[in-house]
Amino acid sequence: MRKPFIAGNWKMYKTPKESLAFLDAFLPLVEGHTRDEIALFPTTTSLSAVIDGLHGSNVRGGAQNMHWLNEGPYTGQTSPTMLVSIGCRHVILGHSEQRLYFNETYERVNLKLKAAINHGITPIVCVGELLAEREDQKTEEVLRTQLRAALRNISPSEARRLIIAYEPIWAIGTGSTASPEIAAQAHAILRHELTHCCGEATADNTRILYGGSVKPENINELMAQEQIDGVLVGGASLVPTTFANIVQYT
Ligand code: 13P
Repeated sequence: MRKPFIAGNWKMYKTPKESLAFLDAFLPLVEGHTRDEIALFPTTTSLSAVIDGLHGSNVRGGAQNMHWLNEGPYTGQTSPTMLVSIGCRHVILGHSEQRLYFNETYERVNLKLKAAINHGITPIVCVGELLAEREDQKTEEVLRTQLRAALRNISPSEARRLIIAYEPIWAIGTGSTASPEIAAQAHAILRHELTHCCGEATADNTRILYGGSVKPENINELMAQEQIDGVLVGGASLVPTTFANIVQYT
């Protein structure tokens, strides 16, 4: 059984004060909700406040990125030990915005993934194709290549806690969601590749999330797909009532 994972990626939005105001409104709306795991990924300056504010609740807080080393002369970076020191146990890796605007590579994602595993941080590895790649019938090849590079030299037991997010770049922030069938097809490709990399047991247990213009209007049909084990929500996770509606899909 794969427990659904519903996550909000706040990207570069919300100061600590705005983040805590969100929690004040959101936590009562999802109090006692145990069907799904719920997590919020605020920006670095709000992360500590959010993790403290979530203490004792059914919602977890995670980081949007991290470096793979514990410390060093790397301006602007945050290390796994620093995340652990503030109680952070989840991290998003390889988000397409990191790849498109900040030259993130899957070789680095692989190093980060290993570091996350070594520090007991649950990694959410994002993969997804460009519109041009989909139009050129390259989706399957792109997804397989991205996943293989991210998982290089990771053993099945190390991949135990891994979460994957399928985020087609053409669906992010555009309002045009992948149809549930297109998303399910991509998830099936990823699970097949996971079986190849990590064995069937790990592939069966790994949650694969969908991300890209998820909103209350399309969450039910997405979650109805057997291959979709949760969602990574951007814009629609910024408003407490909207994100609570997503968490309470039927
Ligand atoms: P949107 O939900 O705003 O399309 O963003 C998706 C995303 O990038 C989540 O990581």
